[in-house]
Amino acid sequence: MKYSEITKKDLEFFHSILDSKHILTDEESLLECASDKTEDLVFKPAVVLQPNSTEDVSAILKHCNQRNLPIVPRGAGTGLSGGALPIHGGVVLDMQKMNRILNIDVKNFQVTTESGVITEELMIAVRKHGLLYPVDPASKGSCFIGGNIAENSGGARAVKYGVVQDQVLNLEIVLPNGEVMWTGANTLKNATGYNLTQLIVGSEGTLAVVTKIVLKLIKAPTEDLSVFVPFQSAKDACEAVHKIFMAGYTPSALEFMERDAIDIAQEYIGEKFIKLKEDINAALLIEVDGTDQEQLMQEIEGIFDVLQEFETGEILFADNSAHKESLWKVRSVMGEAAKSASIYKEEDTVVPRAELPKLIEKVKALGKEYGFHSVVYGHAGDGNLHINILKKDMSDDHWNNVLPKAIRELFVYTRSLGGTISGEHGIGYVQKPYMNTVFSNTSLGLQRQIKKVFDPNNILNPGKIFEYETDQ
Ligand code: MLT
Ligand code: ZN
Repeated sequence: MKYSEITKKDLEFFHSILDSKHILTDEESLLECASDKTEDLVFKPAVVLQPNSTEDVSAILKHCNQRNLPIVPRGAGTGLSGGALPIHGGVVLDMQKMNRILNIDVKNFQVTTESGVITEELMIAVRKHGLLYPVDPASKGSCFIGGNIAENSGGARAVKYGVVQDQVLNLEIVLPNGEVMWTGANTLKNATGYNLTQLIVGSEGTLAVVTKIVLKLIKAPTEDLSVFVPFQSAKDACEAVHKIFMAGYTPSALEFMERDAIDIAQEYIGEKFIKLKEDINAALLIEVDGTDQEQLMQEIEGIFDVLQEFETGEILFADNSAHKESLWKVRSVMGEAAKSASIYKEEDTVVPRAELPKLIEKVKALGKEYGFHSVVYGHAGDGNLHINILKKDMSDDHWNNVLPKAIRELFVYTRSLGGTISGEHGIGYVQKPYMNTVFSNTSLGLQRQIKKVFDPNNILNPGKIFEYETDQ
């Protein structure tokens, strides 16, 4: 696809809409928006625009559509599949100025927010009213709620409360031609027409730009308990996961981590808070929450009963908030820690949770066969494993030409278990070559048609999720 170059006239038009300080062409700003947290990829845009309102977004999109300029919406740039990379250059639409929480509707357990709000700030704001927005991705301290909508983010507590798609009621979106519309209604149920709200969730900024979001909230639990359970075998740790559910427990978090992931995270933090014996190869971090401490204690004891059939090490019980924070910090920095150790590729496979032991075995077997080292952790309660493959001293040839074969084999196997290739990080730029491992040509054709209906000129985040006819 051939796009137009940005001219002086285009810049003059942008100046007629935005304050000069929100039109960035300096090298530093362009480089900042040239990458996200995906591998070592860099694609420089020609200009970064920071809209302040839905009207700004509308005028900018309309102009780009008329002028055939590629435009890529960007949240905080924490994405892990390259969804915010401006691979064709052009405009980056940086949403950081649209960071107002518009209304906390305490009576209806809802919040309406702009899309550039930091997820954790939104959580803190609603918590002041005793309410919980329960989706907490590891990057919640920096990621934007709009980016979470784009990627259908999950995080540790999805196992009990669901992912983004389960919280979104209604979205204000701007179409590539500049038209503004709401996708649904602010209601808990809605059987009215096609579900455009859910079509936009997870569409990675390829169909429309999300400007306002209505989310549902729940009454915040007042109590929680966390325990860290070391296992001698990673397969056993994975095996224990579905047994906990089968015994009737639904933890608010059930995270898996390999020994390597724990070691790398503690090295990264610079403190060895968790001391593990030599024979420990994995662990589960389990949290239960509710309103009654005694009941939570009973739940934890019940979970311990389930774990008795496995070879576990000494269980760490977080009995104060500092202890709990330290345990969770080890888990939440794992991604950053693995990525600081080497160039990496991260896979985000997800399977029905009783299939996890097979998945972890396959990952390790493929590592041996194809010669790669992987650091694995993830949201075991959801059957979702993050597989960080570290390049370390692997040759470029092996990395670029052999490793993709191993990844393809892993994805085909994941599919055969009833799973799919991304649970929460999206397809974006880096996973698109693998879409045909999970979708038929008919399905891919239908998805391309949907893209065409929304964005006939293919200006909005082009080259993401799959190739379009016009790209070829
Ligand atoms: C996580 O669960 O830690 C996040 O999805 C980030 C990552 O895996 O890199
Ligand atoms: Zn995750």
